[in-house]
Amino acid sequence: MEELKRLRMAAARKDRYLEGHHDRVALHAGLLCAAVSPKLAVVVSVAASFHDIGKVVVPDCVLLKPGRLDEREWEKMRMHPVIGEDCIRRSGILGELNGAVALAVRHHHERWDGAGYPDRLAGEDIPLAARIIALADSFDAMTTDRPYRRAMAAAEALREVLACAGKQFDPALAEKFVLVTGGNAELVRALDAGEVHRGTYAPVRRGGKGVEAFGAWRDF
Ligand SMILES: [Fe+2]
Repeated sequence: MEELKRLRMAAARKDRYLEGHHDRVALHAGLLCAAVSPKLAVVVSVAASFHDIGKVVVPDCVLLKPGRLDEREWEKMRMHPVIGEDCIRRSGILGELNGAVALAVRHHHERWDGAGYPDRLAGEDIPLAARIIALADSFDAMTTDRPYRRAMAAAEALREVLACAGKQFDPALAEKFVLVTGGNAELVRALDAGEVHRGTYAPVRRGGKGVEAFGAWRDF
């Protein structure tokens, strides 16, 4: 686990966006997972917390490029879930959960319509944990300030999630995500107030309601 933690930190040093991104994705994914498949909570929490560690091998000029990536650059970017899976498998530290966590990391950029990467899986061929993380990952990207655009308000990002249901996202999960996240008035308020990103939103801490497995990786 020490090696994984080091990679997580190294990736965050390359791209400051990743600093809080892993934890925020674990938070959003944890809330959805608690509503749809509580038994997957630890797998989802751990995989979400490390899903982008493979970015440690993506060159800075690609990772931090503010504009569109060309095809050669995309090739490098598309490697990160595969590298992430490999890091998890080699760590072996997660015991019997290791395989499920590794697969969730590998497939977190697959799309429901089959147009994702690295394997162009579609529909329910994509592991459920990966489908959950894909939603949480995109929602965090939309609700976070990036160098090229301002963060969306939570309500706007949730509308975008629904607009992408059945294309990018599992439609049933997308609907549930909107219900769970949009129905959490305190979370929506904290997101829009910037408290989630500043780390001052209290339920982010372990044991918060509905996110019991959040931060589970710290136990390994
Ligand atoms: Fe990713």
